[in-house]
Amino acid sequence: MTTQTLEYQSGFRNHFASEALPGALPVGQNSPQKCAYGLYAEQLTGSAFTAPRHENLRSWLYRIRPSVVQSAYTPLENGRVATSPLAKPAADPNQMRWDPLPMPTEPTDFVDGLLTIAVNGDAGTQSGCGVHVYAFNRDMTERFFYDADGELLIVPQQGSLRLRTELGELEVKGSEIAVIPRGMKFQVRLADGSDAARGYVCENYGSPLELPGLGPIGANGLANPRDFESPVAAFEDVQGDFELVAKFSGRFWVTKLGHSPLDVVAWHGNYAPYKYDLARFNTINTVSFDHPDPSIFTVLTSASDTPGMANIDFVIFPPRWMVAENTFRPPYFHRNLMSEFMGLIHGEYDAKAEGFLPGGASLHNCMSPHGPDAETFEKASNAELTPQRLDATLAFMFESRYVYHPTEAALNADIRQRDYVDVWSTLRSHFNPQQP
Ligand SMILES: [Fe+2]
Repeated sequence: MTTQTLEYQSGFRNHFASEALPGALPVGQNSPQKCAYGLYAEQLTGSAFTAPRHENLRSWLYRIRPSVVQSAYTPLENGRVATSPLAKPAADPNQMRWDPLPMPTEPTDFVDGLLTIAVNGDAGTQSGCGVHVYAFNRDMTERFFYDADGELLIVPQQGSLRLRTELGELEVKGSEIAVIPRGMKFQVRLADGSDAARGYVCENYGSPLELPGLGPIGANGLANPRDFESPVAAFEDVQGDFELVAKFSGRFWVTKLGHSPLDVVAWHGNYAPYKYDLARFNTINTVSFDHPDPSIFTVLTSASDTPGMANIDFVIFPPRWMVAENTFRPPYFHRNLMSEFMGLIHGEYDAKAEGFLPGGASLHNCMSPHGPDAETFEKASNAELTPQRLDATLAFMFESRYVYHPTEAALNADIRQRDYVDVWSTLRSHFNPQQP
């Protein structure tokens, strides 16, 4: 028996309750002596039991078989996915840029299609993240995956996804992103007629992503909680030869299952996958002069143990009006404490005339200088400052307090642009001491 429902529950980390069969959820308690329909109760926690109430994350799952019905885990080789700390740490102050990962020519699923670009922090102590890109052309059918090292922020660049999770299904298309909580079992399939897909994944080892505080902005703005969508319960009661791949402590493992693990008939709680359409981001920016810092574009943030210094900020550069007067409007030249991994979902990024392609990536580590290229500088310095709509563009950043270590695979990849630093080489001196 399979249920396939595509409905969503709105809200960010609400305490949702959902059942695919009437009466499957116990009323007024979590773990009755016997559950309805002969189901097993299982709790999945995403925080310590004793986390403060506003940070406490857990869901109760009512399933056909408990998760312990599996074989022993055995190691699974995967040479493409790396975890921090790397065996040979390779932090590098050079500005780096990559072309898009080519689509695979052989049948490749989401898990096999991941390639790690950079990592930071330490997965074992729950700080930092892994930054991966993916390209795949094959549905996961007999295979399921969970990540014990971190939650997965999936940023599709091309192709629609069907995320089949323990708590239900999410279709992710257009400018939508999705987050799969740490430990949650899921499958990735192509959706909406896509025959291949490509995108980015931030594997967040640290505190779960949350909405940023709004300070003087007030109660509304940026990403609004009601625009986040979580699935409703959907289950399948299927037996066969399945495998569950786990990423645990930097390695891949596999266990055999005689049934689909997507057998959760009902669930309640606030630990759930969700999706969000970046087109709904309420963009706030200057209406006078200069730039607010890009933190004004933060969609989600993962806190570190130092207030205000994010483990990860997920920041976007969405379509918007540029109206600043007497201002150099593209991103300014800068050197930052925070390290920046950037990707481009579509269009052009306003600091670069060329070379930063949709599906590509750039890395500007702690204190490494970067900013507009020479062509952009000349153009923006002389542009007439009428209101201008930046239309076809959607770039993003995984910004972190921890220095990124690019992987050997990323450093040596054919898609790396080894001449990237030259984009600034033609910035010339305009200095004239006779002309104030
Ligand atoms: Fe930057």
